[in-house]
Amino acid sequence: MHPNRIPPTAALALAALISTPLLAGEEPIEANQVVGAIEGVFGVAPGERRNHTKGSCAIGEFVGTKEAAKVSRSALFSGRPVPVVARFSLAGGNPKAPDVAKSARGMALEFKLPKGQLHHITMLNTPMFGAANPQTFLDLMLALKADPVTGKPDPERMKAFKASHPDNLAQAQYLASNNPPASYASSAYWGIHTFKAVDRKQRITLVRWQFVPQDGEKRLSDEELKSAGANFLEQALIERAKQGPVRWDMMLTIGQPGDAENDPTVLWPAERPRIKAGTLTITAAEPQKGAPCEPINFDPLIMADGIQPSDDPILRFRSPAYAVSFGKRLSER
Ligand code: HEM
Repeated sequence: MHPNRIPPTAALALAALISTPLLAGEEPIEANQVVGAIEGVFGVAPGERRNHTKGSCAIGEFVGTKEAAKVSRSALFSGRPVPVVARFSLAGGNPKAPDVAKSARGMALEFKLPKGQLHHITMLNTPMFGAANPQTFLDLMLALKADPVTGKPDPERMKAFKASHPDNLAQAQYLASNNPPASYASSAYWGIHTFKAVDRKQRITLVRWQFVPQDGEKRLSDEELKSAGANFLEQALIERAKQGPVRWDMMLTIGQPGDAENDPTVLWPAERPRIKAGTLTITAAEPQKGAPCEPINFDPLIMADGIQPSDDPILRFRSPAYAVSFGKRLSER
């Protein structure tokens, strides 16, 4: 049975089993500890995801290109339509996060490949991540935890976090200087991590990917930030999908030796070649409650043959962290 379809009790046991310490820097960090720290910042919405709690479901399909099939033998790039379950979300564990928040937006995709195989791609709308290792992510959550007296993060603690974690800077600056999207449909999403594409002769190519909206990128203006309200993203996506298919081109960037392989905070040089790897088409969207994306654990390490993970410590850490969150939310239902 596939790990994102296991029953709640087994999910909890699995989460406990795989939340064994991973080494980050010098300190071992546990997935339980990090998910607990996320809960410390946002609280717990029982039965819900501990992160990216607010979200919407969608369905569609993906068709890969011949160019991508040359670098990866994945069934994703067979050229035949692959059914997709998608989830769009806001970062953070607040189920009522306002859609104007200057936080990251997420796009998670489950590709249903032939013979029951699954492939996951779980992305953000920022080109880089805000932590080079789990320690930075944990320290950020600890710094963001509200001071019991003021009800807000302690400014001194945040200052100390920023000074001691320069790997957080690039994404923080990106989010501060780019307004959030006007619609999930008008945002680009990045895979951020490096992956290894494997071809039919076992040759490996370092790749990173981005999903580029055919609707074009549109962000809220500063005026719209004030007037757009707290809950427009879901309805905008549902309405847009009713008007006709919503498409993104999957662009694959080909890396070279020496390009950052295990650091999701560092971008590759802009001149790296890019190929069109396929087109994602979303045909319908709906609220997440009871919809197909709700019970899925979009663990980014669920990958079918033809694409392999790099040793990026953040990518490796996500899998046990998502399992802990998944086990908790299932057991609360
Ligand atoms: C140490 C780093 C990270 C931690 C601890 C973390 C933790 C989590 C957790 C606990 C969830 C909820 C899982 C669930 O209950 O299903 C989640 C969801 C998500 N994360 Fe991460 N995450 C990390 C890094 C990233 C990165 C680098 C990306 C993008 C490249 C990302 C994108 C997402 C998205 C899009 C979702 C929502 C998935 C869905 O719709 O179900 N996260 N994350």
